[in-house]
Amino acid sequence: MLMAHVLGVSRANIIAHPERILDSPQTLLAEDLLARRFDGEPIAYLIGTREFYGRDFIVSPATLIPRPETELMVELALARLSSIKVPAMPAGGRSTQIYSDQPASVLDLGTGSGAIGVSIALERPDVIVVAIDNSREALDVATENAERLGAHIELIQSSWYESLAGRKFDLIVSNPPYVAGCDEHLAKGDLRFEPQTALTDNSVDGLSSIRIIIEGAVVHLRPGGWLLFEHGYDQRGACRALLLKAGFENLTSVNDLAGIPRVAGGQIR
Ligand SMILES: C[S@@+](CC[C@H](N)C(=O)[O-])C[C@H]1O[C@@H](n2cnc3c(N)ncnc32)[C@H](O)[C@@H]1O
Repeated sequence: MLMAHVLGVSRANIIAHPERILDSPQTLLAEDLLARRFDGEPIAYLIGTREFYGRDFIVSPATLIPRPETELMVELALARLSSIKVPAMPAGGRSTQIYSDQPASVLDLGTGSGAIGVSIALERPDVIVVAIDNSREALDVATENAERLGAHIELIQSSWYESLAGRKFDLIVSNPPYVAGCDEHLAKGDLRFEPQTALTDNSVDGLSSIRIIIEGAVVHLRPGGWLLFEHGYDQRGACRALLLKAGFENLTSVNDLAGIPRVAGGQIR
């Protein structure tokens, strides 16, 4: 992958042409990238992109590197959206579906590179997608991704719901920071290179941001709207309790492909 980046060709092209000899600038660049890789710097930061939900997203050290397991959030969001924007409530019908004449709307909290929000906007161009982050640098990357990939999405700098007074959505999604502040993994592996504010809110249990997101969702969801958020492997029970306390119904909990509890959520009456 590094050599494909240095040469500006595909990985297949490298395999097809193993006889190619690097010129001097290419050699210098390759040596620099290899040295940084040996120091543990993630490949996504070295080459500047990461694939997510079938598309290449620009990433920078200001953004989390989108994880494959977060694609589950996009799938769940799309499934939820398929039950929204039904033109009219059937006569006398009672249903868990949301009935509305307006386009469905989605809010992505803590969008980072825009991975979740931009993917949803591209899969469902008929849906209004708003995405926020409190990092200006991350929002600049998300803006670049939205423009490059042709996604129509409103990007706002905001600490969680602070700049969204009075706005309501049918679906709120988030992959918030949820690693406990004292977790030793923050100083290991790829995580050393990622923005700490994307990984942890420095709370003892890692749940401070999730608490704010759940409490705010009660105010910012339309009646019948859904909240879906990612959480840590050991936070399923705590998230369920927080959702129940906030008044959410139809609670859901979904494991990722590795069988680890990954996404929690619920519906507001
Ligand atoms: C775990 S990253 C997720 C990034 C992206 N959604 C993804 O899944 O790849 C969490 C994001 O939340 C943002 N964030 C942290 N604290 C925030 C706050 N108080 N308000 C808004 N966004 C915040 C970080 O800047 C970061 O981009």
